[in-house]
Amino acid sequence: MKALILSGGKGTRLRPLTYTGAKQLVPVANKPILWYGIEGIVAAGITDIGIIISPETGEEVQAKTGNGDRFGANITYILQEQPAGLAHAVKIAQPFLGDSPFIMYLGDNLIQSDLNLFCDKFKTELLDALILLRPVSNPSAFGVATVDSKGKVLQLVEKPQNPPSNLALVGIYFFSSKIHEAIASIQPSARGELEITDAIQQLINGKTHVEACQLEGWWLDTGKKDDLLEANRIILDTRVTTAIYGEIDTGSQVIGRVQIGKGSKIINSTIRGPVAIGDNCHIENCFIGPYSSIANQTMLIEADLEHSVILQGAKIDSIHQRIVDSVIGQRAHLTAAPRRPKALRFMIGDDCQIELA
Ligand code: G1P
Repeated sequence: MKALILSGGKGTRLRPLTYTGAKQLVPVANKPILWYGIEGIVAAGITDIGIIISPETGEEVQAKTGNGDRFGANITYILQEQPAGLAHAVKIAQPFLGDSPFIMYLGDNLIQSDLNLFCDKFKTELLDALILLRPVSNPSAFGVATVDSKGKVLQLVEKPQNPPSNLALVGIYFFSSKIHEAIASIQPSARGELEITDAIQQLINGKTHVEACQLEGWWLDTGKKDDLLEANRIILDTRVTTAIYGEIDTGSQVIGRVQIGKGSKIINSTIRGPVAIGDNCHIENCFIGPYSSIANQTMLIEADLEHSVILQGAKIDSIHQRIVDSVIGQRAHLTAAPRRPKALRFMIGDDCQIELA
């Protein structure tokens, strides 16, 4: 079995962060979202992985993720010149996929469950497609399934205005090589894309073997700021264990589960976990509260924050109000003058310069 991970697209819903970088590389607990998907696939025993990349962010994805050695996998990069849809991505990946069955994984999806159970079901029942469904409160934002009382999938529609159910398609699919014929027979949708949802509907119409499983546990589609903060909270809660490589001076207090990377210095500060701090950070006279992730080479001086994600190379200096629920982009620089409002809530893109005067 092979895997195809989609890591292209423009990431419009995470702008401004994604004007300058791939949405799949935005870190959750200091690790790119994409890497959780790769690790999950490798843990299910699949090591032959194709990654679809776009002209805009492909180089960055490739440079950061590498040839797969760090995951014990073999990664092939496949360039999709245009964002022409998920089914189009499968089409251009056909030389890589051959006749092999495969898992297709949207690189900005994160799930709690192991993939093994689904893999086993897909293989032992010799399915042509296995889709994962999850009830959501806003089905219009997803592909939506209608299933009968036995759980058999009757119909799939992409982002319907009047959703027939609340069951969303999770961005993780299992396919046999029959999907290629189905894709060859569909036309672009109203938004001009070849939809994988339409291709699966073709499989259903052709009476091939399509099954659905309801996904248990959490599922995060990290396309938006609040989803990103939620993903960060859950991963810090469930997967982060204490690991301290940096230096903590005697004036500082570190409480709970905290990671501090190599070369980082914590001076006269309180860190209350769960918190992940990367390498070569300078943190001085700060309070870093729960559910914060601070990427490499970040400088925080006289700052007070919680439930926030600070990206690589950002600087925050003398912001005395608590920063909450915020995402601060790479190399962004925040400084403040003495008189200020009580609370701050940010979504700040890469390279911003902000001074609260
Ligand atoms: C895609 C699929 C949609 C699915 C969603 C899951 O939508 O087209 O059917 O429910 O992923 O993340 P997109 O996020 O590309 O708009």
